Amino acid sequence: MLTSQQKTLIQQTIPVLKANGTVLTDYFYHRMLSQVPELRETFNMGHQRDGKQAKALANAVLAYAENIDDPSVLLPVITMICQKHVSLNIQAPDYSIVGEHLLHSISEVLSVPMEDELIGAWGAAYQELAALMIDTEKKIYAQLAKEQGGWSGWREFTIVKKVAETAKVSSLYLAPTDNLALPDYLPGQYISVRINVPSLGYKQPRQYSLSTAPNGQFFRITVKEEMLSQEPGYVSSTLHQQMQVGDLLEVSAPMGDFRVKDATKHNVLISAGIGITPMVAMLEGLTQKDNSTSLPAISFFMSHKMPHTMP
Ligand SMILES: Cc1cc2nc3c(=O)[nH]c(=O)nc-3n(C[C@H](O)[C@H](O)[C@H](O)COP(=O)(O)OP(=O)(O)OC[C@H]3O[C@@H](n4cnc5c(N)ncnc54)[C@H](O)[C@@H]3O)c2cc1C
Ligand code: HEM
Repeated sequence: MLTSQQKTLIQQTIPVLKANGTVLTDYFYHRMLSQVPELRETFNMGHQRDGKQAKALANAVLAYAENIDDPSVLLPVITMICQKHVSLNIQAPDYSIVGEHLLHSISEVLSVPMEDELIGAWGAAYQELAALMIDTEKKIYAQLAKEQGGWSGWREFTIVKKVAETAKVSSLYLAPTDNLALPDYLPGQYISVRINVPSLGYKQPRQYSLSTAPNGQFFRITVKEEMLSQEPGYVSSTLHQQMQVGDLLEVSAPMGDFRVKDATKHNVLISAGIGITPMVAMLEGLTQKDNSTSLPAISFFMSHKMPHTMP
């Protein structure tokens, strides 16, 4: 439990940390990933190289500090973050590593000794948030493991079929190498996929929406090869160009809250570009249901040329 003095200290330093937000988060990630290189197989190194570093973590700690008097307002966001963490197999010991590097980063960026009460206060706040998240994640892992066909962490899958949908988009059909059951999932959910990226020499995880309704036999993901300034995306390009039927990859269990909220109502699915993948699964899910009940009106609108800003 944070003391009122610690809360005051934290509240006083929020503006300073916010002003130095980018410096702090860049410093933190560089410090942690250079000293614990194995964590590169957990973080999205595409975010590191294109400048959009994964600042979310430190920003979330700041948001927690801002709401230190009533952190319950952050619960929905915390649940979403924990789902992402579970999808990436983040475990309790990882929190100690992150905590250590975050506190040292605050100390080094603000030139405050580690023994200072300010670092103590931030340490206590981090511990509180970490404990809440570890507990939430533990419950999600337990829930996943007890589902029919479910599992927690990474599971080995084989590419059993590959279909070129367009020159830049491939669908990959994935079956568990152990030939055991697969869980049901909600159309709209995503999985994390982890593969070795030859150009990096280590593994990288990415999220992909499941692009079919559940069928008990295979998962399907549909991947667009990302390319910006002639630079191919690490994972999408490897999946699209190099990986073939028979190749193995690691997959985490279906996750996420994006889904059709009420299948008995009329549903309008609007999407664009590769963003149609979860919609295809939802549409399939809705039409499967409709075989046994009355058919709701489904409008499916998609355009690969939809403008980013609507008039
Ligand atoms: C919940 C969720 C669901 C998703 N579902 C899908 C899906 O169904 N299908 C799908 O295709 N994607 C999906 N994605 C996106 C996917 O996770 C990846 O982000 C995407 O495949 C790109 O990953 P990458 O490793 O290929 O690109 P990265 O290597 O991570 O690069 C990201 C982008 O930055 C560019 N870039 C990187 N470095 C440079 C540089 N030095 N200079 C210029 N540009 C650079 C890359 O070309 C690329 O465009 C989903 C994401 C989420 C979060
Ligand atoms: C209190 C501690 C933590 C907080 C507040 C936090 C916060 C966040 C937030 C806000 C996101 C973005 C979620 C999203 O995009 O949906 C995120 C993603 C992520 N977090 Fe955490 N996190 C914490 C601890 C950890 C730990 C211990 C690890 C593992 C070492 C970790 C690894 C990741 C990874 C890999 C991602 C995906 C983003 C990417 O790779 O770019 N986080 N976290």
